[in-house]
Amino acid sequence: MRRKFLTWLFAFGYKHPLFVKTGQNFLFGGKINRWREAAAARIPQGKRTLEMGCGMFPAIDHGILLDVSLPLLRNIRPGKDQQVMCASVFTLPVLDGSIDCAVSVFPPGVAADEGFFGDQAFWKELYRVLAKDGVYVAAVYVEYRQRFWKFLAQLIDPFPKEFWGKTKALASGFILTEELYVDPFGNRLIIVEAKKQ
Ligand SMILES: C[S@@+](CC[C@H](N)C(=O)[O-])C[C@H]1O[C@@H](n2cnc3c(N)ncnc32)[C@H](O)[C@@H]1O
Repeated sequence: MRRKFLTWLFAFGYKHPLFVKTGQNFLFGGKINRWREAAAARIPQGKRTLEMGCGMFPAIDHGILLDVSLPLLRNIRPGKDQQVMCASVFTLPVLDGSIDCAVSVFPPGVAADEGFFGDQAFWKELYRVLAKDGVYVAAVYVEYRQRFWKFLAQLIDPFPKEFWGKTKALASGFILTEELYVDPFGNRLIIVEAKKQ
């Protein structure tokens, strides 16, 4: 029930740019940009790069910015090294082995909601498009330092105990490692690095 509600709420919210903008400003202020930068910092320059589920705030400054939501993508002003694509991660409009690095910031399907990160079909599609030794970096969850936010996250959207076991089972053909980024406020961002074998 809670899972269904949160899935609906996040899906609803991410269809409406105004909701995303005000919600993020209110909840996170500038912190969310630091978390996006921490994920993007793990992507080397000069590689063929794809961001999946970029919404209206892409993390990377070069490569393909992809999201399923056109209203969100309309808010992006792509730079000269960026290309915007409206498509689903389940049917990526790119050739086999044509991407060196992929990235997602807060992909759906990690904790209490449903979505592509928790779906094997996504991992198969990712395996198809990544080149040999290609890497996928996903910033998946924030463990808050402040007691209030910690309590709220624990109540509404806790990090699942079975996360690593489940993700390893889904991500067949990848070696997974965990990276932690601690922001200047003491919040811990959990980053998954999946390397194609
Ligand atoms: C939690 S939001 C994160 C957005 C963005 N990365 C950010 O930092 O604000 C998840 C995003 O995934 C997108 N999404 C959900 N399902 C998708 C799919 N099947 N294919 C592509 N994008 C998808 C949503 O439209 C939404 O923009």
